[in-house]
Amino acid sequence: MSELVIDDAPFSDSPVGTGRLIVVSNRIPKSNEVPAGGLVNAMHEALTGAGGLWIGAADPSEQALDGLTRIGSGDYDRATFAITEAEHIGYYLGYSNSVLWPLFHHRPDLLDISESEFEAYAAVNRRVARAIASTVKPDDLIWIQDYHFLMVAQELRALGIANRIGLFLHIPFPNPTDVMALPQVAALSSWLAAHDIVGLQTMRDVTSANEVLRHDPKAQVLRGGKWLRENRTFSVLSFPIGIDAEKFAKTAEAARKPDLQLADDAPLLIGVDRLDYSKGLVQRFEAFDDYLSRRAKGDPRPTFLQIAPPSREDVAAYQEIREELERTAGSINGAHADLDWTPLRYVRRHVDRDLIAGLYRRADAALVTPLADGMNIVAKEFVAAQDAEDPGVLILSHFAGAAEQMDAALLINPFDKRSFSDAIDRAIHMPLEERRERHQTLREGVFEKDIRWWTDSFLARLSQVRP
Ligand code: G6P
Repeated sequence: MSELVIDDAPFSDSPVGTGRLIVVSNRIPKSNEVPAGGLVNAMHEALTGAGGLWIGAADPSEQALDGLTRIGSGDYDRATFAITEAEHIGYYLGYSNSVLWPLFHHRPDLLDISESEFEAYAAVNRRVARAIASTVKPDDLIWIQDYHFLMVAQELRALGIANRIGLFLHIPFPNPTDVMALPQVAALSSWLAAHDIVGLQTMRDVTSANEVLRHDPKAQVLRGGKWLRENRTFSVLSFPIGIDAEKFAKTAEAARKPDLQLADDAPLLIGVDRLDYSKGLVQRFEAFDDYLSRRAKGDPRPTFLQIAPPSREDVAAYQEIREELERTAGSINGAHADLDWTPLRYVRRHVDRDLIAGLYRRADAALVTPLADGMNIVAKEFVAAQDAEDPGVLILSHFAGAAEQMDAALLINPFDKRSFSDAIDRAIHMPLEERRERHQTLREGVFEKDIRWWTDSFLARLSQVRP
């Protein structure tokens, strides 16, 4: 198939084994400046090591032409596929973020189902498959990221593409009961089966995926995480994503001490999350409220700094969580603040990564307490940012994927306000020796299974597949 590139020369050859790495994710940095954190940062790290081509969505336009538009080259090439305004609504705001996102985060009650939005999702997945097919060479590895592209591999197979294809889902996998709320539930296992490797964050997710596949009469379980479905074998495996721990630790060490206008002995708690209902922000605020109501009067007054940049603001569920959070924050400060003390500082905007690294290092505890989360890399960044001599305490929800690896944290149930607020008290008063011990264990894990480990282990498994 001929290469279809809208602007100039063909994409560079940058070998992984014998072929290139082609990564697809919905979000892609539009400039050479890579935004901090999350999926986008992980992809940047992966491609900087391996080289290759990164494909992502362009900003919506009036017309969506087929093919790819180059938007940058360096250690790797970047290119976008086009989507229309209507597709942005149907594919991104609609099926991806009003159906798949809530469902996969165990919130079927928030589903907003629309046939035409699914059609837009399918159309965008087909266009992405055609764009990949126009540039792919026989030995290239194709690595699809996240829930925006569950149908791309199936479309590629329909176009006759026999390359090795991996999917990594950054979010949790739904259980077999919740998944029945998906109108396309009958097709889900055929989407998965079109990949060679389906990578999930945790063993918990692998168990859910296996249970969902077991309900499909066409799927047959083989050994070692493998499945057979209509003459195709594929594997479902866990690859918990990591961070560039060394780089983040250095950033935190070099960061200027943040000017928070706090007394040196005032305990600082920190939370950093996209403003999303899955993050458990209301429950977190309420647990802090409970702690404030019960704390010993002689203790230094704590400050809880919550940074929550807004996200997906055109989806109703996000507007609702934003309003609820504002009400809760207002009433907590109303009840507990004093002339010279604001216990809860709620910052609803983006804060630079370097500044965040410095804040983590200054903080006495981090509240990473989602109700459902694929991994949550804030937990790992907080640990990497600490001064090992005087580390802060990680309070981590059982429902973050990170809890599977980070059991030296104070693990909490975010739905149980009283035990959550007890954990805040315990973190604030934890003796130095216990803090050091817990931190050392956590730090070893974060540094060992870092972003390079994650990329290498996924790509090694994918390369081993016989096309
Ligand atoms: C999660 C998803 C990513 C997504 C990110 C930001 O981490 O797994 O795929 O890119 O959130 O969300 P947004 O909708 O702003 O891209």
